Amino acid sequence: MASYHSVAASFGRDAHNYDAARRLLIPCFDDFYGTALRLLRDTMAERGVGAPTVLDLGAGSGLLSAMIAAVYPGAALTLVDLADPMLAVARDRLAGHGRVEMIGADYSDPDLLAGRRFDAVVSALSIHHLGDADKAAVSARIHNWLAPGGIFINADQVLGDCAASTARHRQVWLADVRRAGACESQIDQAIDRMRADKSVTYTTHLRLMRDAGLAPVDCAYKNQGFAVFWGTRPTGSAA
Ligand SMILES: C[S@@+](CC[C@H](N)C(=O)[O-])C[C@H]1O[C@@H](n2cnc3c(N)ncnc32)[C@H](O)[C@@H]1O
Repeated sequence: MASYHSVAASFGRDAHNYDAARRLLIPCFDDFYGTALRLLRDTMAERGVGAPTVLDLGAGSGLLSAMIAAVYPGAALTLVDLADPMLAVARDRLAGHGRVEMIGADYSDPDLLAGRRFDAVVSALSIHHLGDADKAAVSARIHNWLAPGGIFINADQVLGDCAASTARHRQVWLADVRRAGACESQIDQAIDRMRADKSVTYTTHLRLMRDAGLAPVDCAYKNQGFAVFWGTRPTGSAA
C-alpha cells in the first residue's frame, strides 16, 4: 500500500473550486456520469433492488454519490476519500439524504470495510491515482466487497494504446475544454494534477477486473481518455 497523501493534499487544497470546474474539464460529462448511472439502474432493476447499498471509492465532493441519491432516495451510501476537505463538501451536498456514511481513509488500506458487502461499488476518476500493485489489490477487494450479482462501475481515465494515441487524447481534450470556456489557470491546475496520474490502458482496466474474479466485464463507454468500465461479481463466487 503506497502513500497517497500528496494526492489528498492536492484535492484538499482545491476542494472549494472542484465542482465549479467539473463540466468544463470533462467535456463528455453527461455521457460519462450518465453511463455509470445507467449501469447502476439497469443492474439494480434486474436484481429487483430498490434501495441499493453503494460504496463510492474516491467519492471526493460527492458528485457521483449525489447523482445516485437523486435516483435512489433510499440508497445507503458509503463514501470513502482521503481528502477531508472534499468529504466536507460531500457532507453538505448529501445533508438531506438519510443514509450516508463518510469515511476519511485510503481505500487501498487492506483492513478498510473488511467483511462488508454492497450491491454496487462505484468509482469516478479516482482509481487512476493508484500504483499498479494497489490497483490489483483494490480490484481483488472490490470483488469481496460486492454481494454476489453486485456490480463494480469505474468511470475513469484511460491511456491510449501507444504514446501517439495518448497524445491525441490530450490534444482533443485541450481543444474541447478551451471551447467549453475553461480558463488557462483552470487548465494549468488540471494539467499539474495529471502529472501524478497513473492511468492505464483500456485492456489493463479489463484485465484487472477479470483477474479479480469479476465476470462478465466490459467497457460501456469510451471517449478519448474517458471510459466507463463495469464488472459483475458472479453469483456463487467465493469471497
Ligand atoms: C478527481 S477526484 C474524483 C472525485 C469524485 N469521484 C468525482 O467524480 O468528482 C479524485 C478523488 O479520489 C481521491 N483519492 C485518490 N486516491 C485515493 C485513495 N487511495 N484513497 C481514498 N481517496 C483517494 C482524492 O482525494 C479525490 O478526492
